[in-house]
Amino acid sequence: MKIIHISDIHLTLPGEPMGGLDPHERLALAFADMAAHHADAARIVITGDLAHWGERGAYDALQAALADMSVPVRLMIGNHDDRDTFLKVFDGQPTDANGFVNHAETIGDTRFIYLDSVGARTHAGHFCAARRGWLRDELAACTRARLFMHHNPMPLGLPAEDKIALNAADRGPFEALIREYAPKIDYLHFGHVHAPVHGGWAGVRFASVPSTGNQSIPDLHEPDLLQGAPMAPAYCVILAGPEQTIIHQIPFAWDGPVIRTGTSWEDWSKPGQAAE
Ligand SMILES: [Fe+2]
Repeated sequence: MKIIHISDIHLTLPGEPMGGLDPHERLALAFADMAAHHADAARIVITGDLAHWGERGAYDALQAALADMSVPVRLMIGNHDDRDTFLKVFDGQPTDANGFVNHAETIGDTRFIYLDSVGARTHAGHFCAARRGWLRDELAACTRARLFMHHNPMPLGLPAEDKIALNAADRGPFEALIREYAPKIDYLHFGHVHAPVHGGWAGVRFASVPSTGNQSIPDLHEPDLLQGAPMAPAYCVILAGPEQTIIHQIPFAWDGPVIRTGTSWEDWSKPGQAAE
């Protein structure tokens, strides 16, 4: 099963730049690349930071951009989003009984679980007891699960970034819950960090995805300031199967030369040198 993971699209009001680039243009490039190469995907999952300032016009633009998508898209919110405004525009968006944008669906034998880790007026992640209760019910009821969320629930060895990971109070209980159900969880996918980070935590494997906009440059020492640059963006193609995950990072905005070669080349000696 092919799943596309894309994140941190940070849409503005159309025409307004974000970080020196046009996030709408970047998203259009990403969607065009997906349509050209991955129309067979089962889902496109966007793990939050849909709108940079949480503005209605940005969500309207996203809704328009999604209108012609042939692959079903699942939306999540991030710290830059405004939950109420998002839900006003996407009024068919499923939520849990408490109004959080927690939702889930079964694809094949796997429960795809999409989490709402947003707290009010904070960039740090929140996943309160009510949300953990919803997640516990989901995990208890399924046989296999694949989790998506906006925030990284674990510190990543990046002192500045780790200040806006899942907050310290929620981190322990969330980790305990994940560890309890880890044998069922194939993978945990998140955004937020605007960079590819892979590893294992609480008994599960995890991966983040670059932003379609600006990229962060990991700094393992800086305590306060995040650093980023308009480096090449990407989305990820996940080949997901029972107990298998393969993740390809797709540099969709590269417009320079591409060198194609076959795989049966005979180049055991450098050109101009006699073979030994
Ligand atoms: Fe972001």
